[in-house]
Amino acid sequence: MNANESRGAWGSRIGFILAAAGSAVGLGNIWGFPMQVGRGGGAAFVLVYLFCVFVICFPIMIAELALGRSSSRSPIEAFAVTKPGTRWWLVGVLGVCAGVGILSFYAVIAGWTIAYIWFTATGAVAGNTEQIGAFFSAFVASGGRNVMMTILVLVTTACILLGGVRKGIERASKVMMPALLFLLIALALRALTLPGATQGLAYYMRPDFSLLANPQVFNAALGQAFFSLSLGMGCMITYGSYLSRKTSIVVSAAWVAGLDTAVALLAGLIIFPAGFSIAGFDPTAGGPGLIFTVLPRLFDTMPGGHLFGAAFFVLLTIAALTSTISLLEVPTAALVDRGWERKKAVLALTALVTVLAIPSVLSQGAVASLSSLPVVNMPFLDLMATVWNNWALPIGGLLIAIFVGWVWGADNAIAELTAEGQTLPGAPLWAFLIKYVCPLAILFIIVMTARGMFAA
Ligand code: TRP
Repeated sequence: MNANESRGAWGSRIGFILAAAGSAVGLGNIWGFPMQVGRGGGAAFVLVYLFCVFVICFPIMIAELALGRSSSRSPIEAFAVTKPGTRWWLVGVLGVCAGVGILSFYAVIAGWTIAYIWFTATGAVAGNTEQIGAFFSAFVASGGRNVMMTILVLVTTACILLGGVRKGIERASKVMMPALLFLLIALALRALTLPGATQGLAYYMRPDFSLLANPQVFNAALGQAFFSLSLGMGCMITYGSYLSRKTSIVVSAAWVAGLDTAVALLAGLIIFPAGFSIAGFDPTAGGPGLIFTVLPRLFDTMPGGHLFGAAFFVLLTIAALTSTISLLEVPTAALVDRGWERKKAVLALTALVTVLAIPSVLSQGAVASLSSLPVVNMPFLDLMATVWNNWALPIGGLLIAIFVGWVWGADNAIAELTAEGQTLPGAPLWAFLIKYVCPLAILFIIVMTARGMFAA
């Protein structure tokens, strides 16, 4: 599918909502969110996260979609045609880099997800918590197998972007998304009825506000919100550029943000009750392995758990692939707009991401020097996640809010949002949020975190 054919391609509002929700719902919700809640100390983090989603990110999602639809361009060009002769297109460049950087570690986790389809189906991952944890550590430390899995994810993503099987993926996600939601609800019900579940529920729902003294919590919640909603790097600008003027941006954005948040909250409602039902569970220590150790234990407690678990990881893989294609689409669209042939762009980018992904793959135990980098004291994969999610996306979002609120102008954006006689009841509120609240809140969090880092 080339860029021109795909302009205005969303056939209906529901088609667009599914594609955008497909981009948003992914590993960020099910793998990333519980991990961040665990690191951030539970319910207090959840509250900060919800604040970030609804007060900061939701207005920015509207802004990205409006900018994309009004310019009908991929991110770099969207800035360039909206404000010619300025350097704002560099925000698009930052977004393209973020797309490549995020995909380079995202593909690694997606590779684990695929492997776990097999491990759960065959019962390879079994036993008590120590055994399941040791299985995970040994698996991620095996370099060769994981490089293969990561390449499999990236090649599949490239094939989907090239082969136009995307229509198939979109049709499939109409079935898969409700199926995933159904499995998540079933798992939550199972988790909530385990002994010890109430302790997990308390951890997840009863906030300890003293934790909010640490600015790192705000930074992590903000980064997680941007990451989960696919914001801050022009992904929604690109998706908005394919949107028809007949579709209400605000209503669609509300659906996407609502679905995405529901899936994330549901994932936490599974992981924490199930986790705390295991003796000696420490949510802080879970890290990237959290879902890969808690979920297999949960499947073990269910009749037909192996099949159920395998089905779960199949759906999670598909959710991850609808996200990886949106991540690769942004740099691809940028190169295509610069006159590259689409096929060449996809192949070159896939090669680049593969090379960048290798240190992330090997940082999980295979190569000691990558597993604990000097100065930052973390594995290469975590460094990538921190740089791109916690810094690049919020900074991108800050610049997008300033651009739409002040440079393009909130009034012009509102004119776009109310095109074809659509009404926008909250228009003055949105303008206030995008001009003042979003930039100031993001700036505040970034400055506080930076100060905390240098003070430490
Ligand atoms: N939102 C996806 C997830 O939660 C990841 C993702 C897809 C993304 N496209 C993006 C993150 C664009 C940031 C920007 O899994």
